[in-house]
Amino acid sequence: MPHITVVLNQKGGIGKSMIAMQLAAVYAETLSAEGDPEVAVVSIDPQSTSVDWAERIEKAGRVVPFRVIEASGNIGNLRKLRRAKASIIVIDTPGFLPLGEDGESIDPLGDGPVGDALRAVLDIADDVIVPLEPDPAGFKPTRTTIERVIKPRGLPYGVVVSNWEPRDGRLDLERTQSMVRKQGWELYRSDIRHFRMHARALEEGRVCTQYMSNHTATKAKQDFLGLALEHQLRRQKQAAL
Ligand SMILES: Nc1ncnc2c1ncn2[C@@H]1O[C@H](COP(=O)(O)OP(=O)(O)OP(=O)(O)O)[C@@H](O)[C@H]1O
Ligand SMILES: [Mg+2]
Repeated sequence: MPHITVVLNQKGGIGKSMIAMQLAAVYAETLSAEGDPEVAVVSIDPQSTSVDWAERIEKAGRVVPFRVIEASGNIGNLRKLRRAKASIIVIDTPGFLPLGEDGESIDPLGDGPVGDALRAVLDIADDVIVPLEPDPAGFKPTRTTIERVIKPRGLPYGVVVSNWEPRDGRLDLERTQSMVRKQGWELYRSDIRHFRMHARALEEGRVCTQYMSNHTATKAKQDFLGLALEHQLRRQKQAAL
């Protein structure tokens, strides 16, 4: 049975697709034999960033090292993912409308097709990764995501500080992490730094395991390897509970 991880944050443009694709890449490098993908990214985002990304990898003459499945128009089949022949499935989700921020009775996922797809994947999820950039605008949507969507479902989750700029020092990272701790939210110790290489990866048709080999690329990939390791250790800890 696959382990299903949903990458979720109400806010758009916060690194969900980046984390879904790069995490899948490092898992695939570790797990997959050629022609037998053990890892899949499933997209329920009508914007289909991860599907476009996979197409660019192929156009660049490379092989996508994991399966990428478009499922935004196919909610009925999502339940079948539980029986899929894969070890790890990472689900890339769209941002969702800030509905009912203050109305307790309103489901913040909304009642449209995006909300239906999000509910369907959360029903089959084993855990949730919540990316958060060091930008105050991300705070409120992250709170809605954790307090009103994840916690009521009792899903294990962790916030990952993503896309922070190391050239500006560690202040942004530390501030964001301390804000997360103050809220009493689960925080990943791993974080994802901003690298130009990542920003260009989709356009160039590569995932981090396909970057040119140099010092910067090694550092850039390292963040996702660290995240993958922590993800698995958390999973082990969870299983022992
Ligand atoms: N660590 C990083 N380094 C450099 N660029 C990054 C990093 N993480 C994300 N980005 C860039 O930030 C932008 C938003 O990232 P991404 O598409 O992953 O966000 P998203 O949450 O999936 O957005 P959406 O809600 O629109 O699906 C993209 O242009 C992406 O290339
Ligand atoms: Mg996305």
